[in-house]
Amino acid sequence: MVAPAKKPYRVVGSRPVRPDGTDKVTGRANYGADIRLPGMLYGRVLRSPHAHARIVRIDAAKALALPGVKAVITQADFPAAEDAITDLGETASNLKWLVDNVLASDRALYHGHAVAALAATDPHVAEDALALIEVEYEELPPVLSVHEAMAEGAPRVHPNMHTVEMLARFSPGPRSEHDIPNAASHLRLEIGDLDQGFAEAEVVIEREYETGTAHQGYIEPHNGTALWNESGELTVWLSTQGPFMMRDQLARVLKLPVSKIRVIPMEIGGGFGGKIPVYMEPMAAVLSKKTGRPVKMIMQRDEVLFGTGPTSATYVRVKLGAKRDGTLTAAEAYLAYEAGAYPGSPVGAGGMCMFSPYSVPNQRADCYDVIVNKPKVSAYRAPGAPAGSFAMESTLDELAEQLDIDPLELRQRNAAVDGTRRIDGAAFQSIGNEAVMRAAAESPHWNSELQGENRGRGIAMGYWGNGGLESSAYATVNRDGTVGLVLGSVDIGGQRAALAMQIAETLGIDYEQVKPIVVDTDSIGFTAVTGGSRTTFATGWAVHEAGLEIRRELEARAARIWEVDASLVHYDDDGVIRGPEDRSFTFREIAGQLHRTGGTVQGKADVMPEGTGPAFACHIVDVEVDPDTAKVEVLRYTAIQDVGTAIHPDYVEGQIQGGAVQGIGMALTEEYVYDDQGRLRNASLLDYRMPTTLDVPQIDTILVEEPNPGHPYGVRGVGEVPIVPPLAAVANAIHQATGVRTRRLPASPRVLLEELLPEE
Ligand code: MOS
Repeated sequence: MVAPAKKPYRVVGSRPVRPDGTDKVTGRANYGADIRLPGMLYGRVLRSPHAHARIVRIDAAKALALPGVKAVITQADFPAAEDAITDLGETASNLKWLVDNVLASDRALYHGHAVAALAATDPHVAEDALALIEVEYEELPPVLSVHEAMAEGAPRVHPNMHTVEMLARFSPGPRSEHDIPNAASHLRLEIGDLDQGFAEAEVVIEREYETGTAHQGYIEPHNGTALWNESGELTVWLSTQGPFMMRDQLARVLKLPVSKIRVIPMEIGGGFGGKIPVYMEPMAAVLSKKTGRPVKMIMQRDEVLFGTGPTSATYVRVKLGAKRDGTLTAAEAYLAYEAGAYPGSPVGAGGMCMFSPYSVPNQRADCYDVIVNKPKVSAYRAPGAPAGSFAMESTLDELAEQLDIDPLELRQRNAAVDGTRRIDGAAFQSIGNEAVMRAAAESPHWNSELQGENRGRGIAMGYWGNGGLESSAYATVNRDGTVGLVLGSVDIGGQRAALAMQIAETLGIDYEQVKPIVVDTDSIGFTAVTGGSRTTFATGWAVHEAGLEIRRELEARAARIWEVDASLVHYDDDGVIRGPEDRSFTFREIAGQLHRTGGTVQGKADVMPEGTGPAFACHIVDVEVDPDTAKVEVLRYTAIQDVGTAIHPDYVEGQIQGGAVQGIGMALTEEYVYDDQGRLRNASLLDYRMPTTLDVPQIDTILVEEPNPGHPYGVRGVGEVPIVPPLAAVANAIHQATGVRTRRLPASPRVLLEELLPEE
């Protein structure tokens, strides 16, 4: 299928300054930490020092006796939670698990699990008071890896939990006939006939891989300030990717109607999937109810690492069958992802994505969601995809070597194209996969020569399906010819700009004429998370629809002014309204006349678009490995991606660069380090090593634009797929540099040295 020709846009594709930019760089923008309310109390959380322990007794008497301490709560202060699945935007959870994760019930299930919270008049008093809460624990043996957890006879973290067969990624089915300890669910994805596929193969290769736990690493810690007033209405100021998701979770946890809850999203300092679940917000609400005062809570940095969701540590086994010419005949995977203490790892997406850049007629993936005594994982940028792709793309690299085929050539020979069936059975439409591979093959990086000792080049593909979901927007025409654009999507990566640009394009006006504003949950219709690579796509569609409504209304107004039939009036894409006998209005002209032709004009829309365009990326990386220290230096990096239409190319490039750097972090340095008791030993950003600007080169980007026919401006989500290829790309580069295949990430010096240095 030929992609639609790129339209000549006026605003789309330009690089204007973002509306929120100045306030953010001058420190004037308001974040959750900036909230100050009269009579405000400060809340703090007491966390379990054990990875697994029965909570025998909690005695808050001494803490409550400390002057300034106003209330202490435990889970008993929440309404009882029923067992029911709750939608969290990018993932789902059972309400009981959600509440138990917010505050432990009878057992603490991970080191750092919240067991009590308090509110005091001063943050220092609140901190001191934590030590006065007495908790008696009875330690239990922790389960710390998928291997330990799934072993026969392993202690069950949730004694009554049995393996459930998933019918689809978010759809639990019946209890499995093959109950595996601590495996909350099993999902099988399958197309074709795997036995047939391996029978046709001339080469078969099977390998195993592991990845560590990585945190999203957003710079702004979680925060929430709650005021539960005397008429029973709850207002919460917080940092979130999804104000409506927060409202709905608060409603379920607190058993309040949504109409009683107003969530006011403050500016957000990063989320990457981690700022979707509730953590302290329900505690702040209950503490406010108890004290009758507003309660503010901000996590310390170590609490972010102890108590919020990272992404899964994983084990993946992959088996590929191919002809001697490289044609893949079969692909099989076994994936076991750590869910943390409660079910809900993104293992299904891992199985869904890993083979998707390729046309393989026979595929199977068995995906296991595994409970361990670690923090409950949450979404993290293309949740689940990086680990699966690490396994697939590393194995493909080895296959290319065995068959003596160039690794990019091997991928091109097997490239998924329009009509290719994915592992879930659906056929691709209008994808840019081959175009991305071609752009990689033609890139200056791929065609350059890599010189020098201990250096290697790696390449890998990545796939992500992208999200749609619901978005609302409305827009009001002001008398001066400007447009107020009201949004429910919080702005993380330039959404105000990218959305203002789309309605400016629709209305044929300048970007500067649009004033976007992000509002609270009482002020706009339901809007899903800023996440899932959906916002520029779905909210962009909503603002386009709102723009079209304004166009229709302005045509009617012009017809009324000119006293002609509306069918004779046309709003053109250049923003000029034309009627019979060369009559015309510019947007500004008619805006100035609205007050005497029936009043203000508004456009509004609520959309749930389908037609999300999948995203494909190819990353190329050069590394140098120090033979003595095993430190890996990234020398050069190029990320090629089909972005559909780049609405604001700066922010598209920024997403790609950010995703690539997070993937490099997962590949090289980022991991949670646990002792054998399950205690997290590196809960600080000094010891949990994210790459800094000194650790990575400029990430070069190549934007391939294959417009998505399922969107008015051809938008494809761009935010998530760039984190998928780096793991394998880096590992493949390390192999070329050293001859060592790293099957365990991060390839930190600790891990790599074992491989590099000959045994003593
Ligand atoms: Mo989501 S992991 O916030 O794109």
